[in-house]
Order: sequence, then C-alpha cells, then structure tokens
Amino acid sequence: MDIREHLIKLRSGAEAEIASASTLKELDALEAAMVGRKSMLAEARRALGGAPSDERRELGALINEVSSLLGGLIAERRRVLQQLAVAEELAADRLDVTLPGRTPPRGTHHLITETLEEIVDIFVALGYTVATGPEVETAWHNFTALNMPPTHPARLEWDTLYVDYGAESEEVLLRTHTSPMQARYMIDHDPPVYLVVPGRVFRRDTIDATHYPMFHQMEGLAVDENITFADLKGTLAYFARQFFGARHRVKFYPSYFPFTEPSAEMFVSCFSCDGSGCRVCGHNGWIEILGCGMVHPAVFEAVGYDPDRVTGFAFGMGADRLAQVRHGVRDIRQFFEADLRVLRQFR
Ligand code: PHE
Repeated sequence: MDIREHLIKLRSGAEAEIASASTLKELDALEAAMVGRKSMLAEARRALGGAPSDERRELGALINEVSSLLGGLIAERRRVLQQLAVAEELAADRLDVTLPGRTPPRGTHHLITETLEEIVDIFVALGYTVATGPEVETAWHNFTALNMPPTHPARLEWDTLYVDYGAESEEVLLRTHTSPMQARYMIDHDPPVYLVVPGRVFRRDTIDATHYPMFHQMEGLAVDENITFADLKGTLAYFARQFFGARHRVKFYPSYFPFTEPSAEMFVSCFSCDGSGCRVCGHNGWIEILGCGMVHPAVFEAVGYDPDRVTGFAFGMGADRLAQVRHGVRDIRQFFEADLRVLRQFR
C-alpha cells in the first residue's frame, strides 16, 4: 500500500475511530497516533519532498485535507468529551435543593384555653377587669379569708395536695378554686371591683366523665354599692345566653358555700339528652356549671372592706364543663389525655 492509499484509508475511517474515544485520555492517545510526530501523517509530510514532482502537488493537497479533517474531528470530539466530563462532575457533586423541608407541626390553643378566653371576653365586654393568681396558694387565701377557718369541714370537702416548702408557719397548697383571688384582689384594690380570674385549680376528685383532679375555673367578683341578687342572676343569665345561645336552658338552685350567703348553683340543660336525663348528666337532665352567691360579710371583713357600705356577688364556673356542654364532649378525660383525636377536631 502506498502513502496515498494509506491516507485515503485514514480519511475514510477517521470519523468512526475518533468517535470511539470515550474519554479525554483516550482521545489524547488517539490524537498522538493520528496526527502526532510519529504518526503516518507526519511521516507522509516528511516524505513529500522525496516524492516524484508530478505526484507531489496532489499528495500535498491530500495530506492537508486529511490533516485538517482529523484536526477538526478531534477538536469536536474533545469539546463533546469535555462537556460530558463537566456534566459527570456536576452529577457526582449534586446537592438536591428541591427536597421539601420538614415542617414542624403547628401548635394551636387548647380548646379549654379558647373557652376560657371566650368567657373572659364576654365579661370584659361588660366592663370587668382580668387578673390571674398563683396556682400554689396559701391556705389562708384559699380557705381562711373565705370564711373557712382551720377547723372548717369544707376544707376536707375540697381536699388537695399540700406543699411542704420548709416553713412551718403557713400551710401552702395547690389551690382548690380560683376564689382566693377574690381575697388577693380586694386586699390590693378598693371597691368598686368588677373582676374575672381564669385559671387552673386542683382537687382530690375521683375521675369520671365530668370530674378530673385538675380543671379550670373562671372566678367572677362584683363589689359595689347596692349590688343585689338580681344583679347576679341577670349577669349570669346574660352570660349563659351569650355563651350557649338560646338553645340551652339554665336554672338556679339553692346551694351552700362558706364565702357566699345566700348561695346558688347554676345548671345548664344537658348537651347530651337536652334535659330528659342520661348517663352524662347523671340522669337528672341538668349539668352544674357554676357556683355563685352574695359575698359573705365575713369575707369583706377579712380583706378590710366595710360590709355595711358595699355588697357584691361572686361566682366560679368550670371552664372544662362549659367546653363539654358547648361542644358535646362526653368525657372530660378527652381534654387531658394523650389521644388527640377529639381535640384535633377543634383546630
Ligand atoms: N369556689 C367555688 C367552687 O369552686 C365556686 C364559687 C365561687 C361559689 C364564687 C360561690 C362564689 O366550687
């Protein structure tokens, strides 16, 4: 085979051969072999001078043609392989920023908190002030100031946890009601008083559908000149209409509290049976939602008010029960235990 035939063969196979180089390294080797100093092409160029003059021109043209064809194909292949190399590197180095982040679950207010806020709002609209007090309370505020001296039997009825904090002189306990704030507030403020106190309270209650050893109350206290029982009834009936709407009926029933005289309990018709009697209401058709009464003169005396000058009424309502009645939650435990299916309905 003479040089010319070699060149023609090289030209026809060039495209496939160069395309077969699959890495830059392979391509470099191929380039050296095809157009490098030791290549057949270089040899042909060197031999050109010794070629017969009639062939030289044609051969020279062929050498140039093959040489520039190879140069072009190699350059093009190099560009492609370089691009592939970059793409590969990027793929290996990839940071997937499209992954969705982990959304932390969003919290909401507990249904009881919302209920308390709603009750508070109804009274704020009537001009009442809001205050909160300590959940760990002295026995004096929780009992004594409220006309329950140390030997009073009601202290047993409202038994709770006592806190031993090292001091002998004063008994300290988890408050059994929000009523101690009546005393705290009146000691600090002169009449008139229009006050509501939402908060958590604790009792040694046996757990059932409407009792739990920790629950929530909202205390109310109105002290002014010439406040009567009619004011109490009017205020609480108004509250019930605002909170429950006209669907539920309320009734007052005589009761006893050491710190009010006379005293009453307000009942609302049962959410479950609407008054006909069922398990939820203990078969009497009504659910007690608050205790109330006219502030006992002994309480006024304990806090330094003059019972001849002012009168007042007080009430304490159970927010948990109100939420139960309002939303038809049959069991108070569903507010506080780990199964959130009931509570999630109200989000
Ligand atoms: N503190 C009473 C209770 O927890 C409720 C109450 C408050 C009654 C105010 C009368 C006046 O049962």
